[in-house]
Amino acid sequence: MAEGAQRLAIVGTGSAVPEKVVTNFDLEQIVDTSDEWIRKRTGIVERRVAEADVASSDLGTLAAQRALEAAGLPAEAIDFILCSTVSPDMFFPSTACQIARNLGLEGPAPAMDIQAACSGFSYALHVADGLIRSGLYRRILVIAAETLTRFVDWTDRSTCVLFGDAAGAVVVEPASEGQGLLYSKIGAFPQYAQTDILSVPAGGSRKPFSQEVLENREHYIRMQGREVFKIAVSTMPEITLQAIQEAGLQPEAIDWIIPHQANIRITDAIAQRLGVSMDRVYTNIDRYGNTSSASVAVALDELVRSGQLQRGQTVLLVTFGAGWTWGVNIFRY
Ligand code: ACO
Repeated sequence: MAEGAQRLAIVGTGSAVPEKVVTNFDLEQIVDTSDEWIRKRTGIVERRVAEADVASSDLGTLAAQRALEAAGLPAEAIDFILCSTVSPDMFFPSTACQIARNLGLEGPAPAMDIQAACSGFSYALHVADGLIRSGLYRRILVIAAETLTRFVDWTDRSTCVLFGDAAGAVVVEPASEGQGLLYSKIGAFPQYAQTDILSVPAGGSRKPFSQEVLENREHYIRMQGREVFKIAVSTMPEITLQAIQEAGLQPEAIDWIIPHQANIRITDAIAQRLGVSMDRVYTNIDRYGNTSSASVAVALDELVRSGQLQRGQTVLLVTFGAGWTWGVNIFRY
């Protein structure tokens, strides 16, 4: 890669959430839980749930259209489409190809999915940056589209209260000097890839779909929440601090920290470790729950559209997810 090659800049953001709101009180009618338990343990008050005929690509298309509009560009201006999803419309064709078709594109821009669970948007931004720095592509649509409520077991109170549906998107292109992405790092701790910690155990090639799978409800998300919490709380604050140091910055130089929205207690732990006020840590978990890889993309779009994020400010995204995957992206907006 050429030394000093231009990194990416975000020139448009967009997001989309389903209309349907499911509150904690609604969930009290379905499983043995309470609004108080969910709020206290997670920070979630309500989440959005996609209507039966809405798939990840539908939310992703809306978010992409809004990002293109914000960038003032037609879909034809895009020369690569990346979609992060852990809840694709189907195994194949990719959700990215479905979105490209919905946008009315006829090629030849490549379109592909990226799967890094909840870290997917960080991974996709990192890959987009590499594609731009290589000089092969100039305008990339990076989308994160999720409908995790399709994969939760609505009889399992330990998981069904946590997740929601959403999509976020950004249009990126080469940045001018000193702007755009300042630092990006992604990683994995595969020692935590045990499927009993966090997975959808069946329906893939390890355990194809069958009557037994259906009866055991193994086609739904299984999670040992306490184990996931422990890993997240011990790794996330350290990864964030290390990224800030490696970027040659001080925590005070970061205007906005956008962590993956999984649990408000994990977000609090990051703020505490960095010694920054929660005013600079964006959270929307109360309204959307955990929307997997869409969470940071939606949060970014909300910050932009509400006018809270100003051009020239510095933003840090930090994500973690099943695998165990993680990512940190720092950019000057
Ligand atoms: N309502 C009421 N009680 C509940 C509920 C519920 N919805 N869910 C669990 N409980 C009960 C448990 O049965 C348990 O009862 P017991 O003590 O009688 O056995 C008790 O509450 C405590 O359960 P824990 O699981 O220990 O509760 P914890 O404080 O750890 O909170 C939670 C659970 C919210 C899931 C937390 O562990 C967490 O947020 N974990 C991280 C989740 C996360 O970050 N996931 C990211 C996924 S990323 C991706 O890639 C998809």
